[in-house]
This record gives sequence, structure tokens and C-alpha cells, in this order.
Amino acid sequence: MAPNSMSDTVVEPATVDGKRKGKPLVGPSDPDMGSREMFALIRDLVRPYTGWLIIVLVAMLMETAMSLASPWPLKVVIDSVLGAHPMPDWMRGLSPRDSKMGLAFLAGAGVVLIALIGAFSTYIDNYFTESVGQWVANDLRIRIYDHLQRLSLAYFDKQQTGTLLSTITSDVSTIQNFASSNTLSLLVDVLTILGVLALMFWLNWDFALIAVAVTPGLLIFVSRFKKAVKKATHEVRLHQADIVSVVKEGLESVRVVKAYGRESLEDSHLSEVSHEAVDAALKARRVKSMLSPIISIVVALCTAVVLWRGASLILRDLMTVGALTVFLAYLGKFFKPVQDLAKNTNAIAQATVALERIKRILDTDDVIKDRADAQTLEAVQGTIAFENVHFGYEVGAPVLRGVDFVIEAGQTLGVVGTTGGGKSTVAGLIPRFYDPDDGRILIDGVDAMHYTKESLRKQIGFVLQDTVLFRGTIKSNIAYGRPGATDAEIIEAAKLANAHDFISAMPHGYDTLVGERGLTVSGGQRQRIGIARAIIRNSPILILDEPTAALDTESERLVMEGLTKLMKGRTVITIAHRLSTIRDSNKIIVLDRGIVAEQGTHDELLTRKGIYSELYRIQYESTPAGAAP
Ligand SMILES: Nc1ncnc2c1ncn2[C@@H]1O[C@H](COP(=O)(O)OP(=O)(O)O)[C@@H](O)[C@H]1O
Ligand SMILES: [Mg+2]
Repeated sequence: MAPNSMSDTVVEPATVDGKRKGKPLVGPSDPDMGSREMFALIRDLVRPYTGWLIIVLVAMLMETAMSLASPWPLKVVIDSVLGAHPMPDWMRGLSPRDSKMGLAFLAGAGVVLIALIGAFSTYIDNYFTESVGQWVANDLRIRIYDHLQRLSLAYFDKQQTGTLLSTITSDVSTIQNFASSNTLSLLVDVLTILGVLALMFWLNWDFALIAVAVTPGLLIFVSRFKKAVKKATHEVRLHQADIVSVVKEGLESVRVVKAYGRESLEDSHLSEVSHEAVDAALKARRVKSMLSPIISIVVALCTAVVLWRGASLILRDLMTVGALTVFLAYLGKFFKPVQDLAKNTNAIAQATVALERIKRILDTDDVIKDRADAQTLEAVQGTIAFENVHFGYEVGAPVLRGVDFVIEAGQTLGVVGTTGGGKSTVAGLIPRFYDPDDGRILIDGVDAMHYTKESLRKQIGFVLQDTVLFRGTIKSNIAYGRPGATDAEIIEAAKLANAHDFISAMPHGYDTLVGERGLTVSGGQRQRIGIARAIIRNSPILILDEPTAALDTESERLVMEGLTKLMKGRTVITIAHRLSTIRDSNKIIVLDRGIVAEQGTHDELLTRKGIYSELYRIQYESTPAGAAP
């Protein structure tokens, strides 16, 4: 990665690249982000579910009200049924016969009614909160993935896939858990605290004062902890993402790992990051664990004072036993939300950290932009020209240093050169996977920058060294080149690509599942599916990047046959290691250290006695007589 300061010191043309290369990696620094921005994102996310949120809110208000009402039947029984206290005026009319047992019955009925309403509200609350949580998570997942798909390749060059995976899974589910359980209950907690306070003051204000005197101190204590907890949580997430990265890499390269017998090395990689994760988690837990016990002790102290003072008030007939009972019940109800708020600090910290990690992806603007006045590229002839093209993946490490060449429409161009000479880079610039730092790439005489990426890429087909098969049927894998292709077209393409025979021989023919957990197909077969995919795409420009490099001679022959049919009538750029693949090209260029060192036809280049003829000699001499390239 290029350090951030570089973009300030290195003088670069004002291209997208200048910005891209100066961009810092998504990293551990900067755990704080503007809370206004965060709220904007949250508002954006929950907006579609406003209706459900209102239902949840009403249900929660009912729950709170029922929770506040629940100690009162007990007070009625203690004070007015058992004790000598007169029943409150508003109750007189309700009691069927003005008797004590009638009142007790009413109190009992009250308990049941309060519980019923409370239970119903809880059910509604839970169900709709979960719905909001799940759908918000769903929206987030889709949004992140959609955004990632649109980011430039340069972004993925710098990112570990594991970290991205971990965000799209763990961070999203953290948000989902939070939304499912906490968001609105915070509001209810606050409402409960206010309601309880009001009722306590109404019952006995100076007494209430004693009970809640400690609260401000407690709240300050809680908010102090917030920062520490958040920092620790951020660390934990970083380490968890590391674990995903290590495991992902290890499993993906399991074949190499086994071949080299490095299983224990992989184990030790994991155990290292895993230990770090444990350390970070325990450190976070040490901070978090302080909260609950401290609050419990404060609650106990307050309860002790209330009991002691209450007893003396009752003895002096200044308070009823029922009122003290309600008071004690409320004290519990008062500190529970305070405690919840403290506990939520943890959940909030986790959710905030998750949201920040998500937001950092969503805010990444690492795309190759279309110009404002970009035009749609309609059917092209296929002339391609590189004019003094300079390009490097990193600042200060140029890969192409002034590449010049032209291919006329419908002609074939062979590209050869040493490994790492920049052949694939040239191929990647044509569809604008990257934009050149300097110079121009002309398609039919017009700078490719003037076209939208999408319309440009529609005109280009690829067969790469290794064809990736997506999970799905063979049919869908061929149709990947052009969604909507008919079965007849797919079969026609497969026939041209020399793939029809082996596909037909498969257990379910074109409906055989391939890709992950599907049937394994050999390298040569994969390439032929790749060719069929390119045939279906039917684009005027074709890029072949070492399509036969990984194949044996027999597979190569079958693939070459398919390729020859595919190439007919198109502008073709073939990158090849084996010179036999490109000797018949209309033009061959030799890339050497970032420039075109030689160009011409096979015969011309041989007579020049330069790099090409040397390459040819090496391959000719190492190939058995009779099979000369
Ligand atoms: N995504 C990338 N990020 C950074 N450097 C890269 C990337 N791809 C290729 N390179 C570097 O660019 C140079 C040219 O690579 P490439 O075009 O793949 O060569 P070739 O296809 O001729 O073997 C190499 O030095 C390689 O290390
Ligand atoms: Mg290459």
C-alpha cells in the first residue's frame, strides 16, 4: 500500500489513480467516526420499517406501563385487605360487594389482567423487533456486497478477503443482534426510569430522594466506561477478522499445504492469531466485567437504606407497609434499566464498532469512475491502439513504461515476453480494470475513457489461464457470458468449443452441477467451458491470457481447436508463453521491462535476431525434434 502521505509528495497527473494510490488501507486506526454520519446511516437503514417500529414502540410502552402497575395489587392487598387502610376512592365503585374479600378478588384479577396485557405486548414487541433486525441485516448484507462488487480491482489488491468476509457476516450479525434486542429497549429503559421516579416521588418524595441520590454518580461512572469498552471491542473485532483471514487462506490452499507438509505451520499461524484474539477478548472482558458488580453493590446499599429508613417511617405511622413494598419493588425496577443501560454499553460498543467497519466499506469510493459525459460504446469495429501507456499498481513501481502498439480490427495480436513483464497488465487495461497513469488507449480511434465501463466491457470477451466455474449447472456457467442465452445457443457454443461431447457424457448433461461442491472438471474441460462462455458472449474483441498454459498437449489441441473457431472474425489479443500458440498472429509484440521491445510477424521477428528469436531458439531446442513450435 502506498502510505497516505505519498499522494501529497508525489506529483501525479490528476487521474483517478492519483487518488486511488494515495488512499489509506482500511486499518485498525481511527475507531471513532462522526456520530452524525452514523445516525444518518442508521436512519437510512430503518426508514423502510418505520411502521413496524411504531408497533414495537406502542407494545413497549404497554409493557412499561404494565411493569409499573404490577406492584399495586400487592399494595392494595397489604394495606386495604390485610391492614386497616381505607381503600382508594376510585376502587369503591368497582368492588361488587363492598367487602374485603371482594377487594382481594379484584386485586387478584388485576394481577392476571396486568400479566396478560404485559405478555401480549412482549410477544408483539419481540416478534416485530426481530423482524426489523433481520430485515435491516438483510439490507445491509446486500448493500455491502453490492458495493464491494462495484469497487475497483485496485481495492481488492489491497484488501484481505477474510476481513471483508468477516464484515459481511459477523459485523452484520452483530448489528442484527443489536437491532433485534436493544435499539428500542433503550428508550423503554429511559421511560421506565422516568416513570418509576415520578411514582416514587408521588408516593413519598423525600424518601425517594434518598433512594435515587446515587444515580447521577452512577451514570457518570457508566459513561466513563463506555469509551474504554468501545476501544477494547474494536481490538477484539480486528483479531476475529484475522482469524477468518488465516483460516480462509489455509483452507483455500489446503492442497499446497499438504504437498509441502506444512499443516503444523498453518496450525501455528491460527493458534497465534487465535491466542491474540483470546487476549484481546479477555482484556475487553476485564473492562466490561467491572460494570455489573459495581452496580449490584450500589443497588444493595440503596436497598439497605430504604429498608432501614422505611421501617422507621412505618413504625412512626408515616408510611404504610404496602407503600414500602411498592417502593422496594420500584427500587428494583429503577436500577434494572440503569443496569441494562450499563450492560447495553457493551452491546452498543459492539454494534458501533461493527457499524463503523461496515461504514468504512460503504464509504470506500475506490471505483474507476465513468466520466460525466461518458458515452455508451455501441458495436465496435475493434481497432485497438496503445499510445505511450504508462501504468503501475503502486506508486514508484512502474509496470508499463510507454507501451505503443496498434491492432487493426479483425486482426490477431500475439503478446509474448518474460513472466512479470506486464502482459496481463496490458490485457487488464483494455477493459479498464485499471486506468493508465499516462498515455491513451484508443478503441476505434477514441479514448476508452470516453466510454462507460459497462458498455466497453460488453464488447470484450475473455478466456484466462484458469476459467473460474461458479456453483451452478454447466448450462448456467456457459450462459454467464450472456444472460438470457437460449439452450440451443448454449449447445451450439459448446459444440464450437469442443465441449459438447464431454458435457453430454456427464451424469446430467448440461444440468450437471459444477463449481463448489459440484462435479470436478479437469483443467482442459474448464477451459473449453470458458471458450463456450466467450463464444456465447460474442464480443468483437477477445482477450486470451495464456489460455492453454496449464494444459497438457492433448487438452491443448482440443482447446486450440475451440479457440480457433472462437477467434474467427474478431480482434484477438493472445498472450502466450508457448510461441506455437501465436506464431500465426498478424502481429506479435514482445514486452520487455514495460516497453514494446520488438514487433512484427513471426518471420520478421525471427530475422531480427532479437529477444523473440532467442525465445524461439530456447523453446525449439528444449522441444523434441519433430514437435518444434
Ligand atoms: N494486482 C497487482 N498488484 C500489484 N502488482 C501487480 C499486480 N498484478 C501484477 N503486478 C505486478 O506487475 C508486474 C507485471 O505483472 P503481469 O502483468 O501479471 O505480468 P505477466 O502477465 O507478463 O506475467 C509484475 O511485477 C507483478 O508483480
Ligand atoms: Mg500474466
